[in-house]
Amino acid sequence: MSKFSVWRWSALALLGTFLCACGDDDTPTKGAEAYDLKHPGYFGSKYNIPEDNPTTVEGVDLGRHLFYEPMLSLDSSVSCGSCHKQEFAFADDLAVAEGIDGQKGTRSTMALANLLWSKDFFWDGRAGSLEEQALMPIENPVEMNLSLDEAVSRLNGSEFYREKFKSAFGTEVVTKDLLAKAIAQFERSLISGESKYDLYKQGNYTMTDQERLGEQLFFTHPEPSIGLRGANCGDCHSGFLLQTNTFFSNNGLAGNSPTDIGREEVTNDASDRAKFKVVSLRNIALTAPYMHDGRFATLEEVLDHYNEHIQQSQTLDPLIIEASNKVNGTSLELTQEEKEAVIAFLKLLSDEEFISNPAFSDPFK
Ligand code: HEC
Ligand code: HEC
Repeated sequence: MSKFSVWRWSALALLGTFLCACGDDDTPTKGAEAYDLKHPGYFGSKYNIPEDNPTTVEGVDLGRHLFYEPMLSLDSSVSCGSCHKQEFAFADDLAVAEGIDGQKGTRSTMALANLLWSKDFFWDGRAGSLEEQALMPIENPVEMNLSLDEAVSRLNGSEFYREKFKSAFGTEVVTKDLLAKAIAQFERSLISGESKYDLYKQGNYTMTDQERLGEQLFFTHPEPSIGLRGANCGDCHSGFLLQTNTFFSNNGLAGNSPTDIGREEVTNDASDRAKFKVVSLRNIALTAPYMHDGRFATLEEVLDHYNEHIQQSQTLDPLIIEASNKVNGTSLELTQEEKEAVIAFLKLLSDEEFISNPAFSDPFK
C-alpha cells in the first residue's frame, strides 16, 4: 500500500469515528486502545458492531489467538483456522468442511472478509451476529465438539489467556460471553480492500479490455429488445464488495425437493426453500470449490451453471427467470467469450495483501 493511501484510509476512519453516534457502551475497556478499522472510503461506515463490544487492539489480538487455538476443540486438534485458512481467503479447498476426527459436515466452509458489514451469518443466516456465531462451531459435534463450559474452564486454567482477557476486557475471569466477543472482534478486523479492483476504483489500475467487458456484463441486466447484453450477476451480488444488505435467494441449484432446504430450516417458511445467503464474491478466485455444498470446482463451472443449467423450482429467484440475452430466451445465453470476460473480472477481486497480511496469520507459528 502506498503511504498516500494509508494516510487517506486513516483519515477516513478518523472521520468515521467523529461521525458515529457513540453511546457510553462504545468506550473501550479502560486501558484498551480503539482498533483502527482501515478500509477504502467507498465501503462506507454502516458497520454492524454491537454497542457493548467495541473493537480494540487488545481484543483483536486476543481474538486472533482464540481463532487459531486448537484447545477449543475436544482433542485439541482443530481450531477455527483449521477450516478458515488465510491462504484461501479464510475458506478452504474442500467441497464440504472436515472437522474433528476427519468428520465431514454437509456444507462448504465460507470465506471470511468484510464481515463487519454483514448481518446474517452462515449459508442459511441462522446467526444474527458474529458474537452469536462464534460459539457455534466450538460446540458443533462435527466441527470442534467441545462444550462451552469446558472451553471456558480450559481458558481460565491458562495464565497466558487470563492476562490477555484482562488487557482486553479488564477482567481475568473468562466467560462464554467474552470468548465470543474477542473472536468477533478479530473477525471484524478481517478487512479485504486491496484487490486490483480496489486499485482500479482508486485510479491506480487500468483494466484490460476483457476485464472491462466482464465488469460491464457483471453489472448489467440484459435487455435483448434493445440489444443490451448482460450477465445479471450484479442483480444479486450487488453488494459484492461487502454485502451490506444480506439477503437470501434461490439461484437455481436444485428443483422442488432439494437435499438442503437452506433458509427454510431457519424460518419454517416454504417460500424460503433452497434459499441461501447471497455471499460476497471478494477473493472468489481463491475459494474454490463453490456454492453451499461445494459442487462446482471452478469458476468456469459456475458460469456454465448460470448460463445453461439453472434448475426450475417454485422458489427460483425471479431475477434469474427473467434474465436472457435472447428475446423470449429461457436461459442467459452468454457467448463463450463473454463468460470468460466475467471470470477475468472476478479474478480482479483477489486480494493478495489480505491473504498474506501477518496481522491475520496464526500467531502460534
Ligand atoms: C470444521 C470446519 C470449520 C471450523 C472448525 C469452523 N468453521 Fe466457520 N464455517 C464452516 C462452515 C462449513 C460454514 C458454513 C456452515 C453453514 O452455513 O451451516 C462456516 C461459516 C462460518 C461463518 C459465517 C460466514 C458468513 O459469511 O456468513 C463464520 C463467521 C465462521 N464460520 C467463523 C468461524 C469461527 C469463529 C470458528 C471457530 C470458533 C469457526 N468458524 C470454525 C466451517 C468451519
Ligand atoms: C438471483 C440471485 C443471483 C444471481 C443473479 C447470481 N447469483 Fe451468484 N449466488 C447467489 C446465491 C444465493 C449464492 C449462494 C448459493 C448457494 O450456495 O446455494 C450464489 C453463489 C455464487 C458463487 C459461489 C460463492 C461461494 O463462495 O461459493 C459464485 C462464484 C457466484 N454466485 C457468481 C455469480 C455470477 C458470476 C453471477 C452472474 C453470472 C451470479 N453469481 C448471479 C445468487 C445469485
